[in-house]
Order: sequence, then structure tokens, then C-alpha cells
Amino acid sequence: MDFMTAKEASEQWSISQRRVAVLCSENRIDGAEMIGKMWLIPKTATKPDDARSLRFQPLECLPVKPFVKWAGGKAQILEEIRRLYPSGLGETITKYAEPFVGGGAVLFDILSKYQLEEVYISDINRELIVTYTHIRDNASELVDELRTIEREYLPFSEDERKTYYYNKRERYNNLKAKSHTGVELAALFIFLNRTCFNGLYRVNSKGGFNVPMGSYKNPTICDESNLIAVSERLQNVQIVCGDYRESRKFIDKRTFAYFDPPYRPLSDTASFTSYARDGFDDKNQMELARFIKELSKKGACVVASNSDPKNTNESDNFFDDLYNSLSIARISASRAINSVGEKRGRISELLITNYEGARA
Ligand SMILES: C[S@@+](CC[C@H](N)C(=O)[O-])C[C@H]1O[C@@H](n2cnc3c(N)ncnc32)[C@H](O)[C@@H]1O
Repeated sequence: MDFMTAKEASEQWSISQRRVAVLCSENRIDGAEMIGKMWLIPKTATKPDDARSLRFQPLECLPVKPFVKWAGGKAQILEEIRRLYPSGLGETITKYAEPFVGGGAVLFDILSKYQLEEVYISDINRELIVTYTHIRDNASELVDELRTIEREYLPFSEDERKTYYYNKRERYNNLKAKSHTGVELAALFIFLNRTCFNGLYRVNSKGGFNVPMGSYKNPTICDESNLIAVSERLQNVQIVCGDYRESRKFIDKRTFAYFDPPYRPLSDTASFTSYARDGFDDKNQMELARFIKELSKKGACVVASNSDPKNTNESDNFFDDLYNSLSIARISASRAINSVGEKRGRISELLITNYEGARA
């Protein structure tokens, strides 16, 4: 049989070489074979009727959701953020970056709806990133560990649960102090998140996780179907433990990037920024704004969220000044309004965008 290269097919079919390669890898071209690093395509092959890649088609599989509760999680303002997704997402915009990923409410929404060519996530919280990585690379072992913990924990009385929780918390802190990266650490991370007070993640000055036990009667410790679905969706995702600025190389004009940094505290009592030992102060917020401006110059589509200082001080223009060249929308969210986290109220939050042409 006579063969042509991807380059020859791309010229013959008037589509890019990359698209030819993607169509071959999706088995949409009969007889195409990978020899070494090259696709060889039968000369008799014809261009598929719909030559768009399946990667750009809407997904039909199970939607995925965050596997941890996370302070500042965006589940309840997801609808507003969704309206800001750029209209070319999944077509001309083929990459997604979420450098402050946390529980990943927006990430999982995007992974449920679009199949993009490249996805990058990062967070400064090492144990969170170890857990994401185990879910991607080692989900069945993680599920086994969680099943064992669930089987042990749920039948216990309240006092027994308490002893178990604090033993596991100590074990987690020992592994964490030794920078372990094994599956046990990831399983304990999920167990503690599911059973601790309000799903908080807070560490003391020595870096030890110090959240007390919560009072859930029947917490889901091992959500197997979601973990497996999340694992499938994370397969081609770059997962990085580090500062948000490490995403600089990844983000380009084909990228939609969502930045959800620790919120600027509204008042001293409302402050919650200790996801890790280093806080995120006004100087950090200013550096982030500079970084976003740099990405804007590259042509990336950026959305950023933050608290609205005007909730407590009408004349505080911190973010209006910082992002004066971008568009700022004020949306209403139901949030914990004090540090205890039980009193909730509706407050305004900021969604900042650097582009026109959102979906809705
Ligand atoms: C508001 S939370 C993100 C919540 C997330 N959008 C969700 O839906 O769960 C902010 C995250 O930023 C992380 N973080 C703090 N400083 C960081 C930095 N310099 N670089 C990357 N991540 C950082 C924190 O560990 C935390 O997970």
C-alpha cells in the first residue's frame, strides 16, 4: 500500500498537520499507522466528513466534581463564572490553566464540558497536589485505601471516631513533616477533609494540620465513582506544586486562565488565608495583577476572582485601581461572613475579565 505523511495529507485536505495527527490518534483515518514518531496514512484515505477533532465535541460522560471541600471554593458562583467562559473555548481556545486550583470547582466544570488539548493546574499546597497526582496516576490504590478507612471509621461510636480522627491527623502530620508523597498521605488528606470541621484546611506555624473533627453523621469518605471519573479527566493534565507564576510558560494566546487567589480579607476577623503557611497579602495581590497584565499582553483570556472591599468600606478602591484597565463585575454570593464560618450572608464579590466575547 502507498502511504503519505501527515504533512502531505494536511496539504491535500487543507487542514493543519496537527489536526491530521489528532484525527489519526482518534482512529478516524482508516489504515493510519504510527511508525516511530510519524503518522503514515494510506494514499487512498479520505478526509473525514467532519474533520473537527473529537476533542472539541461536547462530552457525554459522567460530569466530575471536586473531591474535596475547599475554603473559597467556587461551586456556588460557578454559574456566574461559567457565563464568562470565552466564546472560543474548545474551538480556537484549546488550553486551560488554573494556577490557584484548590478544590477545582471551575476546573471540573470545564473538564466535564470540554475536552481541551492541554490543561495546567497548580497550587502551593503540597499535600493537595500530591492528592491530585495520586488520583490521576494511581486511582484504584487510592480508592482501596479510602475504602479501608471508611469501613473502619463509619461503624464507630462518636468517641471512637474522635480517637480515630486525631490518630489519623497525627499520622498525616508525621507523613507531611517528612514530605512523604505516598498514597497513604493522599488518602489521609481526603479522609481529614471529609470529616474535619467545615472541610477547612488550616495549618499552624509549624505547618501541622490543626483543624478539629467535624460533626458529620455519615460523611462520604470514598466517593469511588467520582474519583475514577476525575482520574480519567485528569489523564492529560499537568499538575504542578508551586507558585502561580510557574504557569507563565504554559499560558499563551490559545489559553483561558482562571485565577482564584486567596481572597483579600474584608476585615481582621474575616481573614482566612492560611491554606498553607504563607499568607497572600496586598503586595501579593499587586504582583498577581501585574502578572495578569503580562498575560493580557500575550493575548490570553483571563478571569480572576476576589473579595469586594466595598462590602465593608465603600471608599476602598483597591481592586478598582489595580485592575482599572480590565472589566470588573460585582456579583452577589452567599459567604461565611465571620471567622467562625457559621454566620452566612450575601456579599458582593469581584469577577475581573480581560476580554470581550464571553459565552453569555
Ligand atoms: C481561593 S482558593 C482556590 C479555590 C478554588 N477556586 C476552588 O474552587 O476550590 C486559593 C488557593 O490558592 C492556593 N495558593 C495560595 N498561594 C498560592 C501561590 N502563590 N501560588 C499558587 N497557589 C497558591 C491556596 O493553597 C488555595 O488552594
